Amino acid sequence: KDPVKIAVLGCGTVGTQVVRLLTEQADDLAWRVGAPVVLAGVYVRDTAVPRDVVVPVPSLTSDAEALIADADVVVEVMGGIEPARTMILQAIAAGASVVTANKALLAAHGPELYEAADAAGVDLYFEAAVAGAIPIVRPVRESLAGDHVTRVLGIVNGTTNYVLDEMTTKGLAYGDVVSEAQRLGYAEADPTADVEGYDAAAKAAILASLAFHQRVSLDVVHREGISTVTADDVAAAADSGHVIKLLAIAERVDGGVAVRVHPALVPLTHPLAGVHGAFNAVFVEAEAAGSLMFYGQGAGGAPTASAVLGDVVSVARHIAQGGRGPLESNYADLPVLPIDQV
Ligand code: NAP
Ligand code: HSE
Repeated sequence: KDPVKIAVLGCGTVGTQVVRLLTEQADDLAWRVGAPVVLAGVYVRDTAVPRDVVVPVPSLTSDAEALIADADVVVEVMGGIEPARTMILQAIAAGASVVTANKALLAAHGPELYEAADAAGVDLYFEAAVAGAIPIVRPVRESLAGDHVTRVLGIVNGTTNYVLDEMTTKGLAYGDVVSEAQRLGYAEADPTADVEGYDAAAKAAILASLAFHQRVSLDVVHREGISTVTADDVAAAADSGHVIKLLAIAERVDGGVAVRVHPALVPLTHPLAGVHGAFNAVFVEAEAAGSLMFYGQGAGGAPTASAVLGDVVSVARHIAQGGRGPLESNYADLPVLPIDQV
């Protein structure tokens, strides 16, 4: 079989771990895909900057166009809207399948990307975009596709869970804990996206779109972050037998769907109260399946790279052996209700 050529765009917290796994596990990947899986190159802005991973020198390039044109699979782990959006569209137009961890991009431009992928007959996979290592996109997108999902609820941002948890269990100050979350590779390039709830809202929009098979964009998600949560709030919650968690909730309601992100008081007896550090946990409720719980590391380079690699295997297998992932461009058009109408 011909090798499946993988181009990686970005070599930061997640990208370095993707490159590491792609090179270290090349033999296993070949077995799983049914063809050799080769790293065609890694796009970075400056090839002279030292990286936290051994990348074969000829593989590092600042010529994204040439790299994309020669790839079978493009893995986008740069983040941000541009140039990620343009490069993904270039990849799709060139007939490459795409794997991305970029929730901000999907929540803002998902429909454009899904339609382009469906029209070109290529895969667009994004397990790493929601809840790090936890397989949650695939269950909602594929395993539960024959059921009727009624609600998705949980902790989908590792940074804010880490911050609230450190404030609760160690009494640390908010600002110090945010810096530590950045150092540990949990936070977005701009941590405002985490602490103000934009990252969780983007993930909620993605999960709601998949669960209800309908378009939900970031701008219709009710959003409140944790930047106004004080040490006194945390202490008062503890005194009443609660803990403060940033929750994302997407549910079917009369006349449409509702999607929201906000801090909530969770009783200490509830399983979500026991989610510590940068871990995430998501409950999915479906009519036939009942209640399912997904739990694991929600942020960080290696956990996220694990999810990226799973997607790489799926799309590379389709390239080597035929087949395609699910379509996302044929959605229904239910109204997303404002929070005050729920
Ligand atoms: P990061 O550490 O900031 O790394 C981003 C990488 O992309 C860097 O190598 C950066 O280049 C490169 N890059 C950014 N803009 C670029 C541009 N315009 N041209 C060329 N290269 C560019 O970010 P990260 O934490 O790895 O996150 C990457 C993506 O994964 C984001 O979409 C994020 O939301 C998502 N994600 C992250 C996590 C996590 O825990 N970190 C988890 C799930 C999903 P330089 O090296 O030159 O700075
Ligand atoms: N910044 C994100 C978080 C990374 O803290 O959850 C994982 O998507």
